[in-house]
Amino acid sequence: MRITRINHLAVAVSDMDEALRFWRDGLGLHVDHGAIEEGQGVEVAFMRVGESAVELVRPLGEEGGVARFLEKRGGGIHHLCLEVEDLDAAILRLRELGMRLTSDEPYINASGRRLIFVHPASSGGVLVELYEALAEESVSHPVPQEHLRVEADQRQIDETDHRR
Ligand code: CO
Repeated sequence: MRITRINHLAVAVSDMDEALRFWRDGLGLHVDHGAIEEGQGVEVAFMRVGESAVELVRPLGEEGGVARFLEKRGGGIHHLCLEVEDLDAAILRLRELGMRLTSDEPYINASGRRLIFVHPASSGGVLVELYEALAEESVSHPVPQEHLRVEADQRQIDETDHRR
């Protein structure tokens, strides 16, 4: 398993507009990406800071981990996200070591990225998110653009085959 960078640090907020008043208006950070993550029941806003980012995360309802976190502890740092080259290898290794993950399978977020959370019980009280590096982001093994295109074309072919 190779961790390549801190992808982001996430802050749980109950009111996105109020949070943006500080992070965006006060600090002048730019919101690069905002999304509703239905699968996880949250709204997120990402603001890049150098090689990493700050993520604001707001629960959509009263269910789910972020809502429970806010209820128990109020707003604050919610999780640390590390980027990993091979998520499946990381999951395998953590399971072998008896570490607890919060789901059996990785999620795929609105950006198509695979991720999983390590339960705070296994990581000294810090919820740790593991993000799989996207090919175009990989720092150590950049994939030439034409290769990405070939892969996309191959996917289309595979999908066509599937329909038959
Ligand atoms: Co996150």
